[in-house]
Amino acid sequence: MENTIIWESPSNIALIKYWGKMGEQLPCNPSLSMSLKASVSRFELSYSLKKEGDKDLVYLFEGKENNAFEEKLSRFIASLSNDLPCLGRYRLKILSSNTFPHSAGIASSASAMSALALCLCSMQEAIDEMEMPRDFFLQKASRIARLGSGSASRSVFGQYAIWGEVEGQTESSNYFAIPFKENIHPVFQELQDTILMIDSSPKKVSSTAGHGLMKNHPYADARFHQARLNMADLLLVLEEGDFDKFARIVENEALSLHGLMMSSNPSYTLLKPNTLTAIDRIKAFRDANQLPLCFTLDAGPNIHLLYPKADEKVIQNFIQEELLELLEDGKYIQDGMGNGPTRIK
Ligand code: DP6
Repeated sequence: MENTIIWESPSNIALIKYWGKMGEQLPCNPSLSMSLKASVSRFELSYSLKKEGDKDLVYLFEGKENNAFEEKLSRFIASLSNDLPCLGRYRLKILSSNTFPHSAGIASSASAMSALALCLCSMQEAIDEMEMPRDFFLQKASRIARLGSGSASRSVFGQYAIWGEVEGQTESSNYFAIPFKENIHPVFQELQDTILMIDSSPKKVSSTAGHGLMKNHPYADARFHQARLNMADLLLVLEEGDFDKFARIVENEALSLHGLMMSSNPSYTLLKPNTLTAIDRIKAFRDANQLPLCFTLDAGPNIHLLYPKADEKVIQNFIQEELLELLEDGKYIQDGMGNGPTRIK
């Protein structure tokens, strides 16, 4: 008999960046992210008892074979036998798809690995015929997602999530993410994120390789210290509602991330000329109009433009009039804060 579990899980955008890891996928500094709503991965996991000669895993991405990712998933799933003892006895079939285009430059590892972790934890529950307490289930899923991709640990939760130990946040951990729910000011409760597609070509240096370059980075210690200070400040700002302070911290994190890439050995750049032109225009528009608007960047050239729901109209006009011409085929994705993963089946 074959059983099927389906989860949809979102991508997230880090406001305090995870950049540099140690040990078994543990972060060198804590990070904080906002879960997205529209940029989602869907994972359909079917399992049946293994018979002799069966392949352990069959994987299809949007209906097509993807051998490289199938192998990566196979290795990852095989490494989870202690956490999920049921896995060895079953053959798995995984079908996955994304709501965002493959070439959109949106990191799909966070949404994919969190969706997979949730499916695997639900499978363990079904086989054990016992539901885990909800908090425990999410913590376990976040820990497993982290092992697949660090940033995926945060996608298990909606709204804001923290991964890594933070002073004063007694539940926080390097092993899994936790939701950050403390009195978020209304201005940050329905934050919009317009993802401006500057360039969707594949990255020259993967995030995993970038993390590796933090090992001997001359500014590593200063960076990890900076992230902790920015985290402490941002947690207060999220409660106070001061958008200017929010913008200062979030933009400092984004540019520090790219500064670290430019100053690592070997050094590299992921920003494009149009990224910088767009940043100049965003700052000029903000200064001229005194509007709550700021940018952040992933490990790539595309810009996440963040602003409150209340200012959507005027900022959409600004995008059309001043930013569209800088975008690849005029493309952008309208997204915003989401409420986390959903179990479909
Ligand atoms: C710049 O989570 O993709 O997006 O753990 O090696 O899979 P791995 O790296 P990944 O790194 C994300 C880096 C970042 C910042 C962030 O999301 O915090």
